Amino acid sequence: GKGLAVFTSGGDSQGMNAAVRSVVRMGIYLGCKVYFIREGYQGMVDGGDNIEEANWSSVSSIIHKGGTIIGSARCMDFIQKEGRLKAACNLVTRGITNLVVIGGDGSLTGANLFRQEWSDLLDELLAHNRITKDQREKYKYLHIAGLVGSIDNDFCGTDMTIGTDSALHRIIEAIDAIVSTAYSHQRTFIMEVMGRHCGYLALVAALASEADQVFIPEDPVPHNWVEKLCKRLQQERKSGQRLNIIIVAEGAIDREGKPITAELVKKVVVDNLQQDTRITVLGHVQRGGSPSAFDRILGCRMGAEAVMALMEATPETEPCVVSLDGNQAVRLPLMECVRRTKAVAQAMTDKNWELAVQLRGRS
Ligand code: F6P
Repeated sequence: GKGLAVFTSGGDSQGMNAAVRSVVRMGIYLGCKVYFIREGYQGMVDGGDNIEEANWSSVSSIIHKGGTIIGSARCMDFIQKEGRLKAACNLVTRGITNLVVIGGDGSLTGANLFRQEWSDLLDELLAHNRITKDQREKYKYLHIAGLVGSIDNDFCGTDMTIGTDSALHRIIEAIDAIVSTAYSHQRTFIMEVMGRHCGYLALVAALASEADQVFIPEDPVPHNWVEKLCKRLQQERKSGQRLNIIIVAEGAIDREGKPITAELVKKVVVDNLQQDTRITVLGHVQRGGSPSAFDRILGCRMGAEAVMALMEATPETEPCVVSLDGNQAVRLPLMECVRRTKAVAQAMTDKNWELAVQLRGRS
């Protein structure tokens, strides 16, 4: 059977295990020899026990677990050529020429570069007798399929990244808990949520929790935001509300690009309205815990589709990323999605927020 390996890379997210399980089982079902690569790219570079053959039962009882059972890492060695040579050698000597990478845009970009370089890497390995001529010929094509695992929902091309829905559940649960104590004490709470440079989690959490205000990177506050915020909070209290909830995305900024932090918002509320105010930073709680049903199913569907894409690949097939489009699992060109995702980051850096939002939308 064909050699196929799966690994998770970058920040973990709920639902990654469902994807790993699905890749392993679909791979075995289609007659592949399937491997786990532990600890992301680092495991690929280090080889040894990090690359282990998987069987049907090695992925039993993991679908309900958060995180990734095969570990994840940010790898510096893979950035060096020698690291990539080692990684290629570890794959070729095991007959692995199909890779499913589960991670964010950085991890997917790394995989694409690796594939572009594959032929050169094999030539160099052969020149130094680290692989044989037969191996050079037999494993000359590397195929790659990517799955987007991230709580941030910051990847262009997919409607939902694996983990976003679970993170939202966790955030909403936390806000509901805060609301009850805020009510008792007539307090204002400022909740900081994750998302890096993407405001999706904050925005959707604010909608789902009736928050009074949300700060996100894509919609930087105007110069008179302090006035507007205070007016709104006051109005809410005057109309009989006993508490206020303000959601701040960790990447929130003003129009000059300066961070709008939970501390800053608290100072504004306390100085202007003298409200009893507290901050809750949700942090990594958002990324842990058991995956929602949605993320489990998403991981299953994406994993199966990735394996099918690899099995159908010809030497000319470009790496794909398996995405959710409406309710369909679709294959999109990996590099185009990565390019668009990077263009969003650039548009944000250039303070062209309209363009950023436009690029992030479906095309
Ligand atoms: O990308 C996922 C994420 O959780 C972001 O929301 C957050 O900014 C970052 O990772 C935190 O990274 P770390 O786990 O390295 O602290």
